[in-house]
Amino acid sequence: MTVSSAPGKVYLFGEHAVVYGEPAVPCAIERRATVAVDAREDDHIRVEARDLSLDGFTVEYAGDTDDRPDVDVPSGLVDAAMGYIDAAVEQARDAADAPDAGFDIRVESEIPLGAGLGSSAAVVVAGIDAATRELGVELSSEELADRAYRAEYDVQDGQASRADTFCSAMGGAVRVEGDDCRRIDAPNLPFVVGFDGGAGDTGELVAGVRSLREEYGFAADTVESIGDIVREGESLLAAADPASDPEPELLADLGRLMDFDHGLLEALGVSSRTLDNMVWAAREAGAHGAKLTGAGGGGCIVALDETPETRTALRYTAECRDAFRAELDREGVRAEK
Ligand code: PMV
Repeated sequence: MTVSSAPGKVYLFGEHAVVYGEPAVPCAIERRATVAVDAREDDHIRVEARDLSLDGFTVEYAGDTDDRPDVDVPSGLVDAAMGYIDAAVEQARDAADAPDAGFDIRVESEIPLGAGLGSSAAVVVAGIDAATRELGVELSSEELADRAYRAEYDVQDGQASRADTFCSAMGGAVRVEGDDCRRIDAPNLPFVVGFDGGAGDTGELVAGVRSLREEYGFAADTVESIGDIVREGESLLAAADPASDPEPELLADLGRLMDFDHGLLEALGVSSRTLDNMVWAAREAGAHGAKLTGAGGGGCIVALDETPETRTALRYTAECRDAFRAELDREGVRAEK
């Protein structure tokens, strides 16, 4: 058996604008998806999955991932999750030049699905890593990030940036602008995540921003302004000492930029009442700043707070299903076994 894990992420800044070539800064967090893989004698794929936000399910099928039967669970999320696992299997078969390889796959994830924390990227990165290693092939983290991106790109019909998959493969804070992806230095940022129990439809939300942008020049300007926020945030991070805890002024400045970013995302129509309520609860509890993370529409917010206050306040907020501290995870994909 070969086991790999990979982290989820929050967007410190830049989701949605990254789709239009602006930079974004996602940060890996210490919440992981773990994928265990056993090679089989035949070409069957058997998947057992358990995610924080799903009841577990098991599915088995033969051969070509295109021939997989629909999963007998009444949840669009399960079908979406299986799409990513299929795509990871195809990438692993291709990387190992083993088109008929069969696998028993067990997925366990601490990351809620479709909620802006990059759970699909983490599953794809860990899945490709475990399945290729099981077949005796070691991929560099760059190739792994690239293959994971291609897997997401296929599943999401071309609507994917490299942000989630690169961040999950590499860990730490990263900067993504088009095809240019790199790690950047960042101190230990005290992230707090609030989860409303729901999920947003990334394709629909991205399409909504696209049509606003086509219709109104000021929506295009709004997207560019998000890019300006990211550039400002990056220079703050670059000036900080990555080896020590962040200075209070840095947290205050980053928080103000996060608030601004959330306001612009809200203007672009990708927030929701539950996300806004959690953002306001975090701010009122004393967080340095708070914003939605990921596609929006429902799912998670991220706040900056080194005290337990924001977490506690979120737990008493009706719209919040779960709230947790999420340390910056400097390690990307990891071989567990
Ligand atoms: O919700 P997530 O974590 O998949 O993030 C989506 C981020 C977008 O910028 C809206 C789309 C993308 O592919 O970058």
